[in-house]
Amino acid sequence: MTRRSQLSSACVLLLLIVLLAGRQQAAAKKYAAIFNFGDSLVDAGNLVVDGIPDYLATAKLPYGMTYFGYPTGRCSDGRLVVDFIAQELGLPLLPPSKAKNATFHYGANFAITGATALDREYFVAKGLGKTIWSSGSLHTQIKWLQEMKPKICKSPEECKDLFRRSLFIVGEFGGNDYNSPLFAFQPLEEVHKFVPDIVDSIGEGIEKLIAEGAVELVVPGVLPIGCFPVYLSIFRKQADGYGGKSGCIKDLNTLSWVHNVALQRKIAQLREKHAGAGVRIMYADYYTPAIQFVLHAEKWGMLKQKPRACCGAPGVGVYNFNLTSKCGEPGAYSCEDPSNHWSWDGIHLTEAAYGHIARGWLYGPFAEPAIVETRNHQ
Ligand SMILES: *[C@@H]1O[C@H](CO)[C@@H](O)[C@H](O)[C@H]1NC(C)=O
Ligand SMILES: *[C@@H]1O[C@H](CO)[C@@H](O)[C@H](O)[C@H]1NC(C)=O
Repeated sequence: MTRRSQLSSACVLLLLIVLLAGRQQAAAKKYAAIFNFGDSLVDAGNLVVDGIPDYLATAKLPYGMTYFGYPTGRCSDGRLVVDFIAQELGLPLLPPSKAKNATFHYGANFAITGATALDREYFVAKGLGKTIWSSGSLHTQIKWLQEMKPKICKSPEECKDLFRRSLFIVGEFGGNDYNSPLFAFQPLEEVHKFVPDIVDSIGEGIEKLIAEGAVELVVPGVLPIGCFPVYLSIFRKQADGYGGKSGCIKDLNTLSWVHNVALQRKIAQLREKHAGAGVRIMYADYYTPAIQFVLHAEKWGMLKQKPRACCGAPGVGVYNFNLTSKCGEPGAYSCEDPSNHWSWDGIHLTEAAYGHIARGWLYGPFAEPAIVETRNHQ
């Protein structure tokens, strides 16, 4: 080999390395910031920025035992789906939007435990004031974003430009909306009547964000609530029809399924309406991965068992869930290895489960389309 050809092959190699590195960066650098909205599935500490209320077990150990080593206000042993997405995209963990000292140049997490898609008044008008928590609905959270704008950009144009380069994660919303009639023990036919209003409210939220300049939006559906220890414990007697293999309450999973179908129909309408503006709306699926954790636990490195909370205390049934001794409360303990459980506290998921879901949203198969489209994932 001549010196010249040696040089040129060295150059080709270098070029290849640069190109490959560039490709890796392309995925990481796609978004300038992430703005996240939602409830306790993705609250990164908004409920506890002014101190931890006494009643709130979710801000006590063993919450936070994995990764952080201390409670952060996240309702899990560790990171949430939005945390994994931020890290995979090369961004810092999003600070809770109410944090006093945080900077929000890479985005903010507006999610707060208890949040609903519909405003509190809707439930109060239906006589459901007692089973609703007014911590901040989707529309309140969008107001918080609007109030934050002066902190993160100097002019309306600059905000629009930032939002155009950002990822918006809108949800999950709906879980707490359905909880309101469910925990008031309304019949399921009544609860089904809430679906159109909840989905319309989520649709209105998406449109408000698009009006602010958002073009890349992830919209998650709800979980199969019939598989969760809290519902299994409370509705055990009323419910008929358990899935033989899963041990989940079929009727409750049907409610989640119906919501998710309606939400996807709404998303299809919005895609069509905003197609000209280059808006990309991704449907993100919590339902399918959660069902897979139940039915094919071993594929995900989890224990094959009927739905069971990792952190809790013996109660009714085999779920390790006791309403008077919940995770974080006296008498409740964490299982030895949260990574082989999908249910953390009977209500929320473990860091391990959230990690699997986040990767499924980023690279497929749990989002339609996947957030990162171009990457070939082996
Ligand atoms: C904000 O930061 C200052 C200085 O680091 C610190 O003294 C203060 O306690 C912080 N405030 C909050 C609310 O975290
Ligand atoms: C639930 O927890 C309470 C308080 O720790 C305890 O007294 C009760 O026996 C538990 N229930 C069951 C069914 O184990």
